[in-house]
Amino acid sequence: MNYCVVGLHWGDEGKGKLVDILAESCDIVVRYNGGANAGHTVIVGEDRFALHLLPSGAIRPNVQCVITNAVAVDPEVLLGEIDSLAGRGISLQLRLFISYNAHLVLDYHKAEDRLREESLGKDKIGTTVRGIGPCLADKVGRSYAVRAGDLADLEKLREKLRAVASYKSKVFASVYNAAPVDADAQFEKCRGYAEKLLPFITDTTELLHRAAADGKSILFEGAQGTLLDIDHGTFPFVTSSNSSALGMPACSGVPAKMVDRFIGVAKAYCTRVGAGPFPTEQDNEIGQYIRDRGNEYGTTTGRPRRCGWFDAVATHYAVTVGAVDSLALMHLDTLAGLKQVKICRAYDIDGRTVTFFPSYSGLLGKAECIYETLPGWDEDITSARQFDQLPPAARDYVAGVEQIVGRPVTVVGVGPERSQTIFR
Ligand code: GDP
Ligand code: IMO
Ligand code: MG
Repeated sequence: MNYCVVGLHWGDEGKGKLVDILAESCDIVVRYNGGANAGHTVIVGEDRFALHLLPSGAIRPNVQCVITNAVAVDPEVLLGEIDSLAGRGISLQLRLFISYNAHLVLDYHKAEDRLREESLGKDKIGTTVRGIGPCLADKVGRSYAVRAGDLADLEKLREKLRAVASYKSKVFASVYNAAPVDADAQFEKCRGYAEKLLPFITDTTELLHRAAADGKSILFEGAQGTLLDIDHGTFPFVTSSNSSALGMPACSGVPAKMVDRFIGVAKAYCTRVGAGPFPTEQDNEIGQYIRDRGNEYGTTTGRPRRCGWFDAVATHYAVTVGAVDSLALMHLDTLAGLKQVKICRAYDIDGRTVTFFPSYSGLLGKAECIYETLPGWDEDITSARQFDQLPPAARDYVAGVEQIVGRPVTVVGVGPERSQTIFR
Protein backbone atom coordinates (compact mmCIF):
# COMPACT_ATOMS: atom_id res chain seq x y z
CA MET A 1 0.00 0.00 0.00
CA ASN A 2 1.10 3.56 -0.69
CA TYR A 3 -0.27 6.31 1.53
CA CYS A 4 -0.26 10.08 1.54
CA VAL A 5 -0.71 12.02 4.78
CA VAL A 6 -1.79 15.61 4.30
CA GLY A 7 -2.86 18.45 6.59
CA LEU A 8 -6.43 19.67 6.15
CA HIS A 9 -6.21 22.96 8.02
CA TRP A 10 -3.46 25.59 8.47
CA GLY A 11 -0.71 23.16 9.50
CA ASP A 12 0.29 21.56 12.83
CA GLU A 13 -2.58 19.09 12.71
CA GLY A 14 -0.43 16.25 14.06
CA LYS A 15 0.89 14.91 10.74
CA GLY A 16 4.28 14.03 12.21
CA LYS A 17 2.76 11.76 14.82
CA LEU A 18 0.66 9.87 12.27
CA VAL A 19 3.51 9.56 9.75
CA ASP A 20 5.76 8.11 12.44
CA ILE A 21 3.12 5.50 13.27
CA LEU A 22 2.39 4.54 9.65
CA ALA A 23 6.12 4.43 8.85
CA GLU A 24 6.42 1.27 10.89
CA SER A 25 4.86 -0.70 8.03
CA CYS A 26 6.37 1.27 5.11
CA ASP A 27 9.67 0.97 3.26
CA ILE A 28 10.07 4.61 2.24
CA VAL A 29 8.83 7.90 3.70
CA VAL A 30 8.81 10.88 1.36
CA ARG A 31 8.76 14.54 2.34
CA TYR A 32 7.43 16.34 -0.71
CA ASN A 33 6.85 20.06 -0.07
CA GLY A 34 7.64 23.07 2.11
CA GLY A 35 10.93 23.48 3.89
CA ALA A 36 12.22 24.21 7.37
CA ASN A 37 9.06 26.26 7.98
CA ALA A 38 7.55 22.92 8.99
CA GLY A 39 7.86 21.48 12.47
CA HIS A 40 6.73 17.89 12.92
CA THR A 41 6.71 16.47 16.43
CA VAL A 42 7.14 12.81 17.22
CA ILE A 43 6.97 11.63 20.83
CA VAL A 44 8.05 8.12 21.73
CA GLY A 45 7.96 7.45 25.46
CA GLU A 46 10.11 10.15 27.05
CA ASP A 47 11.83 11.02 23.75
CA ARG A 48 10.70 14.05 21.76
CA PHE A 49 11.81 14.71 18.19
CA ALA A 50 11.03 17.94 16.30
CA LEU A 51 11.72 17.42 12.60
CA HIS A 52 11.79 20.24 10.07
CA LEU A 53 13.14 18.76 6.84
CA LEU A 54 13.62 15.05 7.40
CA PRO A 55 10.46 13.02 6.91
CA SER A 56 8.85 11.99 10.18
CA GLY A 57 9.68 8.33 9.46
CA ALA A 58 13.36 9.19 9.97
CA ILE A 59 13.51 7.97 13.53
CA ARG A 60 12.72 4.41 12.42
CA PRO A 61 16.13 3.05 11.42
CA ASN A 62 14.89 0.67 8.71
CA VAL A 63 12.94 3.26 6.76
CA GLN A 64 14.43 4.99 3.72
CA CYS A 65 13.89 8.75 3.70
CA VAL A 66 13.38 10.82 0.56
CA ILE A 67 13.34 14.61 0.18
CA THR A 68 11.89 15.46 -3.22
CA ASN A 69 12.34 18.13 -5.88
CA ALA A 70 9.78 20.56 -4.44
CA VAL A 71 11.23 20.81 -0.95
CA ALA A 72 13.09 24.04 -0.18
CA VAL A 73 16.16 22.58 1.51
CA ASP A 74 18.05 24.70 4.02
CA PRO A 75 21.37 22.80 4.13
CA GLU A 76 22.25 24.19 7.55
CA VAL A 77 19.01 22.98 9.11
CA LEU A 78 19.18 19.63 7.35
CA LEU A 79 22.77 18.95 8.40
CA GLY A 80 21.88 20.00 11.95
CA GLU A 81 19.01 17.51 11.94
CA ILE A 82 21.15 14.69 10.56
CA ASP A 83 23.80 15.38 13.23
CA SER A 84 21.27 15.68 16.01
CA LEU A 85 19.70 12.31 15.15
CA ALA A 86 23.15 10.74 14.82
CA GLY A 87 23.90 12.05 18.33
CA ARG A 88 20.83 10.13 19.50
CA GLY A 89 22.00 6.94 17.82
CA ILE A 90 19.89 7.28 14.66
CA SER A 91 21.98 7.31 11.48
CA LEU A 92 20.73 8.59 8.12
CA GLN A 93 23.76 7.28 6.22
CA LEU A 94 22.82 5.22 3.14
CA ARG A 95 19.09 5.75 3.74
CA LEU A 96 18.56 9.43 3.02
CA PHE A 97 18.01 10.53 -0.58
CA ILE A 98 17.69 14.19 -1.60
CA SER A 99 16.51 15.22 -5.05
CA TYR A 100 19.13 16.97 -7.16
CA ASN A 101 16.28 19.24 -8.26
CA ALA A 102 15.47 20.47 -4.74
CA HIS A 103 16.10 24.19 -4.33
CA LEU A 104 18.49 25.40 -1.66
CA VAL A 105 17.52 27.98 0.94
CA LEU A 106 20.61 30.15 1.42
CA ASP A 107 21.41 32.99 3.83
CA TYR A 108 20.14 35.73 1.52
CA HIS A 109 16.71 34.03 1.31
CA LYS A 110 16.34 34.16 5.09
CA ALA A 111 17.55 37.78 5.11
CA GLU A 112 15.04 38.70 2.40
CA ASP A 113 12.18 36.96 4.23
CA ARG A 114 12.95 38.99 7.36
CA LEU A 115 13.46 42.29 5.50
CA ARG A 116 10.19 41.89 3.60
CA GLU A 117 8.18 41.01 6.68
CA GLU A 118 9.67 43.96 8.61
CA SER A 119 8.93 46.37 5.77
CA LEU A 120 5.30 45.19 5.56
CA GLY A 121 4.62 46.18 9.18
CA LYS A 122 1.01 45.46 10.11
CA ASP A 123 0.38 43.91 6.68
CA LYS A 124 2.96 41.19 7.16
CA ILE A 125 2.07 37.56 6.44
CA GLY A 126 3.59 36.33 9.69
CA THR A 127 5.95 33.89 7.96
CA THR A 128 8.25 31.59 9.84
CA VAL A 129 11.16 33.67 8.43
CA ARG A 130 12.84 30.49 7.22
CA GLY A 131 13.43 31.92 3.71
CA ILE A 132 10.81 29.73 2.05
CA GLY A 133 9.00 32.45 0.07
CA PRO A 134 12.19 34.07 -1.35
CA CYS A 135 13.73 30.67 -2.21
CA LEU A 136 10.64 29.44 -4.04
CA ALA A 137 10.24 32.85 -5.74
CA ASP A 138 13.76 32.33 -7.11
CA LYS A 139 12.72 28.86 -8.26
CA VAL A 140 9.77 30.23 -10.23
CA GLY A 141 11.89 33.15 -11.45
CA ARG A 142 14.52 30.59 -12.58
CA SER A 143 17.51 32.86 -13.36
CA TYR A 144 18.87 33.10 -9.79
CA ALA A 145 17.85 29.71 -8.42
CA VAL A 146 20.32 27.32 -6.78
CA ARG A 147 19.51 23.61 -6.69
CA ALA A 148 20.98 20.77 -4.67
CA GLY A 149 22.49 19.32 -7.86
CA ASP A 150 24.46 22.57 -8.36
CA LEU A 151 26.65 21.52 -5.42
CA ALA A 152 28.24 18.97 -7.77
CA ASP A 153 29.94 21.67 -9.89
CA LEU A 154 31.52 24.15 -7.49
CA GLU A 155 33.19 26.34 -10.13
CA LYS A 156 29.89 26.91 -11.90
CA LEU A 157 28.22 27.50 -8.52
CA ARG A 158 30.80 30.16 -7.63
CA GLU A 159 29.89 32.06 -10.83
CA LYS A 160 26.17 31.61 -10.19
CA LEU A 161 26.47 32.96 -6.64
CA ARG A 162 28.34 36.02 -7.91
CA ALA A 163 25.51 36.78 -10.32
CA VAL A 164 22.92 36.19 -7.60
CA ALA A 165 24.79 38.40 -5.12
CA SER A 166 25.16 41.22 -7.63
CA TYR A 167 21.42 41.23 -8.36
CA LYS A 168 20.22 40.73 -4.78
CA SER A 169 22.63 43.33 -3.37
CA LYS A 170 21.06 45.97 -5.62
CA VAL A 171 17.57 44.98 -4.47
CA PHE A 172 18.60 44.85 -0.80
CA ALA A 173 20.23 48.32 -1.01
CA SER A 174 17.52 50.09 -2.97
CA VAL A 175 14.40 48.51 -1.45
CA TYR A 176 15.52 47.81 2.13
CA ASN A 177 18.64 49.91 2.59
CA ALA A 178 20.25 46.66 3.73
CA ALA A 179 23.79 45.24 3.58
CA PRO A 180 24.92 43.54 0.34
CA VAL A 181 25.07 39.78 -0.18
CA ASP A 182 28.57 38.36 0.27
CA ALA A 183 29.02 35.90 -2.63
CA ASP A 184 32.37 34.56 -1.40
CA ALA A 185 31.13 33.84 2.12
CA GLN A 186 28.04 32.10 0.73
CA PHE A 187 30.22 30.11 -1.64
CA GLU A 188 32.47 28.91 1.18
CA LYS A 189 29.40 27.71 3.07
CA CYS A 190 28.20 25.91 -0.05
CA ARG A 191 31.55 24.19 -0.42
CA GLY A 192 31.04 22.76 3.08
CA TYR A 193 27.46 21.72 2.26
CA ALA A 194 28.67 19.97 -0.90
CA GLU A 195 31.16 17.89 1.04
CA LYS A 196 28.52 16.67 3.46
CA LEU A 197 25.39 16.52 1.31
CA LEU A 198 26.56 15.22 -2.09
CA PRO A 199 26.51 11.57 -0.96
CA PHE A 200 22.76 11.94 -0.32
CA ILE A 201 21.87 13.77 -3.56
CA THR A 202 20.29 11.74 -6.37
CA ASP A 203 17.37 11.42 -8.80
CA THR A 204 14.54 10.77 -6.36
CA THR A 205 11.89 10.48 -9.09
CA GLU A 206 13.73 7.50 -10.57
CA LEU A 207 14.27 6.05 -7.10
CA LEU A 208 10.56 6.27 -6.24
CA HIS A 209 9.38 4.73 -9.51
CA ARG A 210 11.87 1.87 -9.21
CA ALA A 211 10.77 1.29 -5.61
CA ALA A 212 7.10 1.26 -6.64
CA ALA A 213 7.86 -1.21 -9.45
CA ASP A 214 9.59 -3.44 -6.89
CA GLY A 215 6.44 -3.43 -4.76
CA LYS A 216 7.88 -1.27 -1.97
CA SER A 217 5.40 0.53 0.25
CA ILE A 218 5.73 4.32 0.06
CA LEU A 219 4.37 6.89 2.51
CA PHE A 220 4.16 10.50 1.32
CA GLU A 221 4.27 13.19 4.00
CA GLY A 222 2.83 16.62 3.25
CA ALA A 223 4.03 19.62 5.20
CA GLN A 224 1.75 22.53 6.22
CA GLY A 225 -1.93 22.08 5.33
CA THR A 226 -4.48 22.55 2.57
CA LEU A 227 -5.55 26.04 3.70
CA LEU A 228 -1.91 27.22 3.39
CA ASP A 229 -1.64 25.97 -0.23
CA ILE A 230 -0.25 28.67 -2.53
CA ASP A 231 -3.01 28.04 -5.12
CA HIS A 232 -5.90 26.70 -3.05
CA GLY A 233 -5.38 28.25 0.39
CA THR A 234 -6.28 31.57 1.95
CA PHE A 235 -3.95 33.64 -0.26
CA PRO A 236 -1.90 35.76 0.45
CA PHE A 237 -1.80 34.30 3.99
CA VAL A 238 -0.39 31.01 2.77
CA THR A 239 2.95 29.34 2.29
CA SER A 240 4.74 29.22 -1.07
CA SER A 241 4.24 25.57 -2.05
CA ASN A 242 1.30 23.29 -2.91
CA SER A 243 0.62 22.01 0.57
CA SER A 244 -2.74 20.38 -0.22
CA ALA A 245 -3.02 16.78 -1.42
CA LEU A 246 -3.01 18.22 -4.94
CA GLY A 247 0.68 19.04 -4.47
CA MET A 248 1.75 15.45 -3.91
CA PRO A 249 2.14 14.38 -7.57
CA ALA A 250 3.84 17.55 -8.84
CA CYS A 251 6.03 17.79 -5.80
CA SER A 252 7.25 14.18 -5.98
CA GLY A 253 7.09 13.09 -9.62
CA VAL A 254 4.77 10.24 -8.62
CA PRO A 255 1.18 10.36 -9.94
CA ALA A 256 -1.64 10.50 -7.40
CA LYS A 257 -3.18 7.35 -8.82
CA MET A 258 -0.22 5.38 -7.47
CA VAL A 259 -1.36 6.28 -3.96
CA ASP A 260 -3.91 3.87 -2.50
CA ARG A 261 -5.13 6.10 0.28
CA PHE A 262 -4.99 9.81 1.08
CA ILE A 263 -5.39 10.39 4.81
CA GLY A 264 -6.28 13.92 5.86
CA VAL A 265 -5.13 15.05 9.30
CA ALA A 266 -7.20 17.56 11.26
CA LYS A 267 -7.38 18.52 14.87
CA ALA A 268 -10.67 18.19 16.75
CA TYR A 269 -10.57 22.02 16.66
CA CYS A 270 -8.65 24.46 14.43
CA THR A 271 -5.42 26.38 14.90
CA ARG A 272 -3.49 28.87 12.82
CA VAL A 273 -0.11 30.59 13.21
CA GLY A 274 0.55 33.90 11.48
CA ALA A 275 -1.92 36.35 9.96
CA GLY A 276 -5.02 35.75 7.84
CA PRO A 277 -8.74 35.02 8.15
CA PHE A 278 -9.80 32.31 10.62
CA PRO A 279 -13.61 32.24 10.86
CA THR A 280 -13.95 29.93 13.89
CA GLU A 281 -11.21 31.65 15.92
CA GLN A 282 -11.97 32.00 19.64
CA ASP A 283 -9.88 34.95 20.76
CA ASN A 284 -11.26 34.51 24.27
CA GLU A 285 -11.17 32.16 27.26
CA ILE A 286 -12.21 29.16 25.10
CA GLY A 287 -9.25 29.71 22.75
CA GLN A 288 -6.97 30.09 25.76
CA TYR A 289 -8.34 26.89 27.31
CA ILE A 290 -7.56 24.97 24.10
CA ARG A 291 -4.10 26.60 23.80
CA ASP A 292 -3.20 25.66 27.38
CA ARG A 293 -4.51 22.11 27.27
CA GLY A 294 -3.26 21.39 23.76
CA ASN A 295 0.11 23.10 24.29
CA GLU A 296 -0.57 25.13 21.17
CA TYR A 297 2.76 26.85 20.63
CA GLY A 298 4.62 26.53 17.31
CA THR A 299 7.12 23.69 16.91
CA THR A 300 9.33 25.86 14.66
CA THR A 301 8.94 29.39 16.01
CA GLY A 302 7.40 28.90 19.47
CA ARG A 303 4.66 31.42 18.62
CA PRO A 304 1.30 30.91 20.39
CA ARG A 305 -1.14 29.38 17.92
CA ARG A 306 -4.51 31.02 17.36
CA CYS A 307 -7.21 28.52 18.41
CA GLY A 308 -10.88 28.05 17.50
CA TRP A 309 -13.72 25.58 16.94
CA PHE A 310 -13.63 22.82 14.33
CA ASP A 311 -14.43 24.28 10.92
CA ALA A 312 -16.30 21.63 8.92
CA VAL A 313 -16.74 23.99 5.95
CA ALA A 314 -12.98 24.37 5.60
CA THR A 315 -12.40 20.65 6.28
CA HIS A 316 -14.99 19.61 3.71
CA TYR A 317 -13.26 21.84 1.15
CA ALA A 318 -9.87 20.30 1.98
CA VAL A 319 -11.10 16.70 1.59
CA THR A 320 -12.94 17.63 -1.60
CA VAL A 321 -10.10 19.36 -3.48
CA GLY A 322 -7.64 16.76 -2.23
CA ALA A 323 -9.81 13.66 -2.86
CA VAL A 324 -9.01 12.65 0.71
CA ASP A 325 -10.34 9.20 1.64
CA SER A 326 -10.43 9.33 5.43
CA LEU A 327 -9.71 11.56 8.40
CA ALA A 328 -7.32 11.37 11.33
CA LEU A 329 -8.83 13.54 14.08
CA MET A 330 -6.10 14.52 16.51
CA HIS A 331 -6.24 16.21 19.93
CA LEU A 332 -9.70 14.93 20.87
CA ASP A 333 -8.32 14.77 24.44
CA THR A 334 -7.72 18.53 24.42
CA LEU A 335 -11.45 19.33 24.25
CA ALA A 336 -12.28 17.47 27.49
CA GLY A 337 -13.73 19.68 30.21
CA LEU A 338 -15.66 22.05 27.94
CA LYS A 339 -19.40 22.24 28.70
CA GLN A 340 -20.25 22.46 25.02
CA VAL A 341 -18.29 21.84 21.85
CA LYS A 342 -19.07 23.44 18.52
CA ILE A 343 -18.68 22.51 14.87
CA CYS A 344 -19.03 25.19 12.21
CA ARG A 345 -21.29 23.72 9.50
CA ALA A 346 -21.84 26.83 7.32
CA TYR A 347 -20.91 30.49 6.99
CA ASP A 348 -23.11 33.50 6.70
CA ILE A 349 -21.45 35.87 4.24
CA ASP A 350 -23.37 39.08 3.51
CA GLY A 351 -26.64 37.35 4.41
CA ARG A 352 -25.98 34.28 2.22
CA THR A 353 -25.53 30.81 3.69
CA VAL A 354 -22.30 29.41 2.28
CA THR A 355 -21.22 25.77 2.58
CA PHE A 356 -18.43 25.67 -0.06
CA PHE A 357 -15.35 27.24 1.52
CA PRO A 358 -14.40 30.52 -0.18
CA SER A 359 -10.59 30.48 -0.32
CA TYR A 360 -10.63 34.14 -1.37
CA SER A 361 -9.48 35.91 1.81
CA GLY A 362 -11.65 38.97 1.13
CA LEU A 363 -14.81 36.85 1.35
CA LEU A 364 -13.60 34.55 4.09
CA GLY A 365 -12.78 37.53 6.27
CA LYS A 366 -16.49 38.42 6.31
CA ALA A 367 -17.71 34.92 7.24
CA GLU A 368 -19.91 34.59 10.33
CA CYS A 369 -20.02 31.02 11.58
CA ILE A 370 -23.18 28.95 11.86
CA TYR A 371 -22.52 26.31 14.52
CA GLU A 372 -23.80 22.93 15.50
CA THR A 373 -23.53 22.78 19.32
CA LEU A 374 -22.94 19.44 21.03
CA PRO A 375 -22.56 18.49 24.70
CA GLY A 376 -18.99 18.28 25.97
CA TRP A 377 -17.42 15.61 28.20
CA ASP A 378 -15.38 15.81 31.39
CA GLU A 379 -13.61 12.45 31.31
CA ASP A 380 -9.87 12.28 30.69
CA ILE A 381 -9.60 10.17 27.52
CA THR A 382 -5.80 10.03 27.24
CA SER A 383 -5.65 6.37 28.24
CA ALA A 384 -8.38 5.20 25.85
CA ARG A 385 -7.02 2.84 23.20
CA GLN A 386 -10.27 1.75 21.59
CA PHE A 387 -13.05 3.85 20.21
CA ASP A 388 -15.69 2.30 22.45
CA GLN A 389 -13.66 3.33 25.52
CA LEU A 390 -14.48 6.98 24.74
CA PRO A 391 -17.39 8.63 26.57
CA PRO A 392 -20.62 8.81 24.52
CA ALA A 393 -20.35 12.60 24.08
CA ALA A 394 -16.84 12.29 22.59
CA ARG A 395 -18.05 9.56 20.23
CA ASP A 396 -21.01 11.72 19.22
CA TYR A 397 -18.66 14.58 18.51
CA VAL A 398 -16.58 12.38 16.16
CA ALA A 399 -19.81 11.20 14.50
CA GLY A 400 -20.83 14.86 14.05
CA VAL A 401 -17.54 15.64 12.31
CA GLU A 402 -17.94 12.60 10.03
CA GLN A 403 -21.47 13.52 9.13
CA ILE A 404 -20.78 17.15 8.23
CA VAL A 405 -17.41 16.60 6.55
CA GLY A 406 -18.60 13.50 4.71
CA ARG A 407 -15.58 11.27 5.36
CA PRO A 408 -14.98 8.51 7.95
CA VAL A 409 -12.74 9.26 10.92
CA THR A 410 -10.45 6.22 11.02
CA VAL A 411 -7.84 7.56 13.45
CA VAL A 412 -8.42 9.47 16.70
CA GLY A 413 -5.63 11.16 18.65
CA VAL A 414 -5.97 11.12 22.45
CA GLY A 415 -2.52 12.42 23.41
CA PRO A 416 0.86 13.34 21.95
CA GLU A 417 2.63 10.04 22.54
CA ARG A 418 2.90 7.46 19.75
CA SER A 419 0.64 4.98 21.54
CA GLN A 420 -2.08 7.56 22.29
CA THR A 421 -3.77 6.89 18.99
CA ILE A 422 -6.97 4.96 18.29
CA PHE A 423 -7.36 3.16 14.95
CA ARG A 424 -10.86 2.15 13.89
P1 GDP B 1 2.47 18.69 12.40
O1 GDP B 1 3.14 19.91 11.93
O2 GDP B 1 1.17 18.44 11.71
O3 GDP B 1 3.34 17.47 12.39
O4 GDP B 1 2.09 18.94 13.93
P2 GDP B 1 3.03 19.59 15.07
O5 GDP B 1 3.96 18.53 15.53
O6 GDP B 1 3.60 20.88 14.64
O7 GDP B 1 1.96 19.94 16.17
C1 GDP B 1 1.12 18.98 16.73
C2 GDP B 1 1.34 18.97 18.25
O8 GDP B 1 0.31 18.21 18.85
C3 GDP B 1 2.63 18.30 18.66
O9 GDP B 1 3.09 18.92 19.81
C4 GDP B 1 2.20 16.87 18.93
O10 GDP B 1 3.06 16.22 19.87
C5 GDP B 1 0.85 17.08 19.52
N1 GDP B 1 -0.14 16.02 19.28
C6 GDP B 1 -0.33 15.26 18.17
N2 GDP B 1 -1.43 14.50 18.32
C7 GDP B 1 -1.95 14.79 19.52
C8 GDP B 1 -3.13 14.36 20.22
O11 GDP B 1 -3.92 13.54 19.77
N3 GDP B 1 -3.34 14.90 21.46
C9 GDP B 1 -2.48 15.82 22.02
N4 GDP B 1 -2.77 16.30 23.22
N5 GDP B 1 -1.37 16.24 21.39
C10 GDP B 1 -1.14 15.74 20.14
P1 IMO C 1 3.77 22.22 9.53
O1 IMO C 1 4.32 21.32 8.44
C1 IMO C 1 1.83 25.95 10.66
C2 IMO C 1 2.55 29.39 8.08
C3 IMO C 1 3.27 30.55 8.74
C4 IMO C 1 2.67 31.71 7.98
C5 IMO C 1 2.53 31.15 6.57
C6 IMO C 1 3.68 31.51 5.63
O2 IMO C 1 4.49 22.11 10.82
O3 IMO C 1 2.31 22.03 9.64
P2 IMO C 1 6.17 30.66 5.44
O4 IMO C 1 7.29 30.67 6.43
O5 IMO C 1 5.81 29.30 4.94
O6 IMO C 1 6.39 31.63 4.31
O7 IMO C 1 4.91 31.23 6.27
O8 IMO C 1 2.47 29.75 6.71
N1 IMO C 1 3.24 28.09 8.17
C7 IMO C 1 2.88 27.12 9.01
N2 IMO C 1 1.96 27.11 9.99
N3 IMO C 1 2.55 24.83 10.40
C8 IMO C 1 3.46 24.83 9.41
O9 IMO C 1 4.10 23.70 9.01
C9 IMO C 1 3.70 26.02 8.68
N4 IMO C 1 4.53 26.37 7.68
C10 IMO C 1 4.23 27.63 7.37
O10 IMO C 1 2.99 30.59 10.11
O11 IMO C 1 1.37 31.97 8.46
MG1 MG D 1 4.01 21.66 12.75
